[in-house]
Amino acid sequence: MMLEVAALRVGYGKAEVVHGVDFGLDAGECVALIGPNGAGKSTILKSICGLVPPISGSIRFLGHSLVGMAGHHIAELGIAMCPEGRQMFPEMTVLENLRMGAYTRRRDDLDESLDEVMALFPRLRERARQDAGTLSGGEQEMVAIARVLMARPKLCIFDEPSLGIAPRVVDEIEETLHKIKASGVTILLVEQAVSMALRVADRAYVLEAGNLVLEGPSAELAQADSVRNAYLGF
Ligand SMILES: Nc1ncnc2c1ncn2[C@@H]1O[C@H](COP(=O)(O)OP(=O)(O)OP(=O)(O)O)[C@@H](O)[C@H]1O
Ligand SMILES: [Mg+2]
Repeated sequence: MMLEVAALRVGYGKAEVVHGVDFGLDAGECVALIGPNGAGKSTILKSICGLVPPISGSIRFLGHSLVGMAGHHIAELGIAMCPEGRQMFPEMTVLENLRMGAYTRRRDDLDESLDEVMALFPRLRERARQDAGTLSGGEQEMVAIARVLMARPKLCIFDEPSLGIAPRVVDEIEETLHKIKASGVTILLVEQAVSMALRVADRAYVLEAGNLVLEGPSAELAQADSVRNAYLGF
């Protein structure tokens, strides 16, 4: 497996919020992690990226143990996260934000990557010199996704890319995720837009109150009564 998480417990202070989860993904896979608000999805992602230290358990990526490793080393190994709420630099232009995404890389092949991400998001080319803070929510999400791709990651982690975005733009984001997947990048996707997540992902895990309660191929989960009732609303 490219990423292997075992018996992972994570918390804040004395409060444990992730109670021992096991999951993994293979190179080239797109795996979704779904579950209600507060289940611990973002916490798991943050612990993979070195932002919240695990209480116990192991996280292995391409043979490296990530537990205790500094965030920038984890990034250098090829993991890039697009955090919840986008978190770009509002007073920097689109172009400057995209360049920030490539800080782990050599300067001379940046232009090629810029061309690639602009091809994926033509609207960003039009808005390259606009301050990112003045973009629409959907456009900001595009910058956030494009910025992650600028790092040429092996594993792309997305935390709720569709949050607070108009349905029409969510369709665009879905299309983009399909394209990223087709380009061979491995994806770990957290999404509240569960039907969308299950269309994009090959497999999915359901996290409830810090425990994984269900897993399987997306097509199967989309048919499971518990998933349909709780997450798909039919
Ligand atoms: N910095 C923090 N300090 C203390 N508690 C936190 C912190 N961040 C998150 N928590 C708590 O940990 C639990 C899990 O939060 P987390 O953000 O991982 O949930 P989530 O599944 O991503 O939810 P959502 O779908 O709303 O984004 C919640 O009860 C939350 O209040
Ligand atoms: Mg979250």
